[in-house]
Amino acid sequence: MDRTIQNAESWARSFFSDDATGHDWFHTHRVRNTALMIGEKERADLYVIELVALLHDVADDKFYKQENQGLNEVASWLKSHGVEEWQKLIDMISSIGFSSGKTPDTLEGKIVQDADRLEALGAIGIARTFMYAGAHGDAMYNPDIPVRENMTKSEYRKGQSTAINHFYEKLLKLKEKMNTKTGRLLAEERDEYMKGFLDQFHREWDSKIGS
Ligand code: ADP
Ligand code: NI
Repeated sequence: MDRTIQNAESWARSFFSDDATGHDWFHTHRVRNTALMIGEKERADLYVIELVALLHDVADDKFYKQENQGLNEVASWLKSHGVEEWQKLIDMISSIGFSSGKTPDTLEGKIVQDADRLEALGAIGIARTFMYAGAHGDAMYNPDIPVRENMTKSEYRKGQSTAINHFYEKLLKLKEKMNTKTGRLLAEERDEYMKGFLDQFHREWDSKIGS
């Protein structure tokens, strides 16, 4: 394996060694594998995809006190590893996260964004949502807390919500936002699965099972 890729993997592994909010190392590991799989189908540059996937969350603002601290650290890291196109990679990384509200310009960035979004869908997406809600002290569900239609970045991060509301506030909208054909196909399958889960959840909540 390429040494830069190997070092990026070591960095991400140690960075996320003790996360219990849905961003453990295996999240990065799956984003990398899913992005490489999509990248093969879409004939993209697999080296760029792998590096961006490995570093996309190491750079995320939510893990740092100062704004842009993560991006700056990743930029220095890329330079010190002699990655000439470091600025291009930083541009991709800074526009991947949901809260950035952006779409990366390059095919490789779009693919990693798709892989990261797929992580919020399907069985894994359901599991991560409840992990996140638990870690932030939110309820599993509370019918008295309304679903929010439009949110600012800080409302998304800090406002009151529930795990179930999160499906309506974000997750069920993701399918429409996929960048690539392969990403969209995978998202559709995972979206169906989540809808089945929500249906069952509400039936059980309303004591309707078997009727
Ligand atoms: P990212 O943008 O890197 O996917 P987030 O920190 O927004 O990361 O989310 C991590 C995981 O937690 C995702 O699966 C996401 O859908 C879920 N999540 C984010 N916000 C909430 C929330 N308010 N309630 C429940 N789950 C959430
Ligand atoms: Ni991520």
